[in-house]
Amino acid sequence: VATPQPSQPSPEPCGWIRAYNEAPEVFNAFAAAEDPDGLATRKLRGLTDFEGKEGLEIGCGTGRFTSELARNFACSKLWACDSAPLMLEWAKGACADLDVEFSLANAMKLPHKTQSVDFVFASWVFAYLPITLLEKCLKECHRVLRPCGEIWALESGDAGQLGAPMDGNIHGLLDIGFEIVASVNTELRFPSETLARETLNFLMESKAPAVQGCSVPHQILILKQSRN
Ligand SMILES: C[S@@+](CC[C@H](N)C(=O)[O-])C[C@H]1O[C@@H](n2cnc3c(N)ncnc32)[C@H](O)[C@@H]1O
Repeated sequence: VATPQPSQPSPEPCGWIRAYNEAPEVFNAFAAAEDPDGLATRKLRGLTDFEGKEGLEIGCGTGRFTSELARNFACSKLWACDSAPLMLEWAKGACADLDVEFSLANAMKLPHKTQSVDFVFASWVFAYLPITLLEKCLKECHRVLRPCGEIWALESGDAGQLGAPMDGNIHGLLDIGFEIVASVNTELRFPSETLARETLNFLMESKAPAVQGCSVPHQILILKQSRN
């Protein structure tokens, strides 16, 4: 898998934070459009073996991957947390009929016992943390992981049109021991051009790509780190 070229990580635009705290429906419109054919999830299923394992999702957002993990990965137990109350409520709704234990929690201080889970999953969480917080977060993930446990992450690559403005700190992740195990070329596909423009402008503000039509090319990276 080609490694993205080094670039300066940019802080998450305020629109994302505003969505987490005040407008989860805007984030959810984005999440519903991202990778609509589920290519990344399918790839992840082929790469992982979560069957019979106990897992924790951090930064679960509105729960799109939480429900996938609970439905299709045969885990024996799944916990999920987010630090934004409105996002967490949405995730609980998305998983109402599923066996997931949710908590309102900061990933820097998880309400889980030491060595109590087999894997940690996080999508679009690590690459946007400043390096000191990333290190703190990973230390906490390693604390809750059992020996030989794994951390799996999804992040945006920079080969899609959305990549550059969303460019998280992929190099920071590689520097601290993540490897890119796959990349998936996909797209954001919105129901209409208006919704595409409104959603991306809200979230990405001045960094939103120019939208022509309902879809935007997008690349998703699947990363992994193992605990010794
Ligand atoms: C880009 S969203 C991704 C949501 C979800 N993982 C997904 O892919 O749809 C990032 C999420 O991480 C959460 N988050 C950010 N920092 C966090 C932290 N320190 N602890 C817990 N959750 C956090 C935000 O509230 C938000 O819901």
